[in-house]
Amino acid sequence: MKEKLESIKAAAEEQLARVRAEADIEALRVKFLGKKGELTGVLRGMGQLSAEERPVVGQMANDVRAFIENKLSEHSAKIKSELSRAKLESERLDVTMPGKASERGTRHPLAKVEYEMCDIFRSMGFDITEGPEVEYDYYNFQALNIPENHPARDTQDTFYITNNILLRSQTSGVQVHTMENTKPPIRVVAPGRVYRSDAVDATHSPMFHQMEGLVVDRGITMGDLKGMLEVFAQRMFGEDTKVRFRPHHFPFTEPSAEVDISCFVCGGKGCRVCKGEGWIEILGAGMVHPNVLRMSGIDPEVYSGFAFGMGIERIAMRRYGIDDMRLLYENDVRFLSQFK
Ligand code: PHE
Repeated sequence: MKEKLESIKAAAEEQLARVRAEADIEALRVKFLGKKGELTGVLRGMGQLSAEERPVVGQMANDVRAFIENKLSEHSAKIKSELSRAKLESERLDVTMPGKASERGTRHPLAKVEYEMCDIFRSMGFDITEGPEVEYDYYNFQALNIPENHPARDTQDTFYITNNILLRSQTSGVQVHTMENTKPPIRVVAPGRVYRSDAVDATHSPMFHQMEGLVVDRGITMGDLKGMLEVFAQRMFGEDTKVRFRPHHFPFTEPSAEVDISCFVCGGKGCRVCKGEGWIEILGAGMVHPNVLRMSGIDPEVYSGFAFGMGIERIAMRRYGIDDMRLLYENDVRFLSQFK
C-alpha cells in the first residue's frame, strides 16, 4: 500500500508538471483526489490493514493528499499568472513610438496680411466692420459723390446685376453704411472683396480685396491722416519706413492723395520690388468730401473726417515677393504651404 501511495504521488507530480491549462488542473484534481479518485481508492482499502499499520498508512495518505493539493494550487497559481502576463504582453503599448504626423494647414497669404493689418488698426482703436458685396448703385457711387456720367460707372469696369444693383467695385460704400448707422466719433476699417470687370493677368483679377478706413470726429485733419498712416506703415513694413503723399483726385475725398511708402526691401535706393523707384504705392486717401458727410447725415460744419482704401493683394504680393496675382487664387498647396 505504501508503494501504491508513493506511485500515486509520483504520477501526480509528473502529470501536473505537463499541465498548461486551468481545466486540466481540475481534471487532475478529480482524477487523484475526487470521490472516485485514486487516493480515495487506496483509503477505502485501509480496512484490511492491521491496527499498527493503519495510523502509519493513514498518516502517509494524508501527507500524499496534502502534497498533491499543494502542487495543484501551486500549478494553478502559476498558470493564472502566466495567462495574465501573456495578456498584458499582448496589450502592450509603446508610448515612445512616434505618432502619425498629420499635416497642418497654413493661413492663406492674403488672410495673413489682412489679419496683420486688422491687428494694427485694432491696436490704434479702430473697430473692424464689413459691408455687402452685392450693393446698390447708391452706396457704391451716388453717395460717394460720383456723378451720373463718371467713367467709373461704365459697365466696362463695373459688374451690374440690374440697373441699380451691382457687385461693389470698391469698399468705400462701407463708409456710407457706417455713417448712416453710427454717430461720430467713428473709427473703423472694413476689409472685403471687390469686383471689377478686368481680364485676368499677373496684376489684375475680376475679384480682389480692399481694406477701407474711416475716421470721423470733430476737428479731424489731414495731419491726423498722415500721422496715423505713418504709424500703420512703420508697424506693417518696418520702423524706418517713410510715407509720401502725392496729390490725386477721388470724387469722395477732398483733398485727395495717393500714398507711397519707402521700399521695405531697398529702403529707397531702387530695386526689383519697387521697380527701381524706391517708393511703393499702397493706398488712396483723403479728407471725406463735405457732400459725402452731408448725404450720410453728418453735418460737415461740425464734423470732419478722413478715409483711406488699400488693395490687400498688392501689399501681400510686395510683402512676400509674389510676382503673379493668379498664384493667390489657384490654391496650389505647393505655393500655399510656403506661408508657415
Ligand atoms: N476707393 C478708392 C479706390 O478703390 C480708394 C480710396 C478709398 C480713396 C478711400 C480715398 C479714400 O481706388
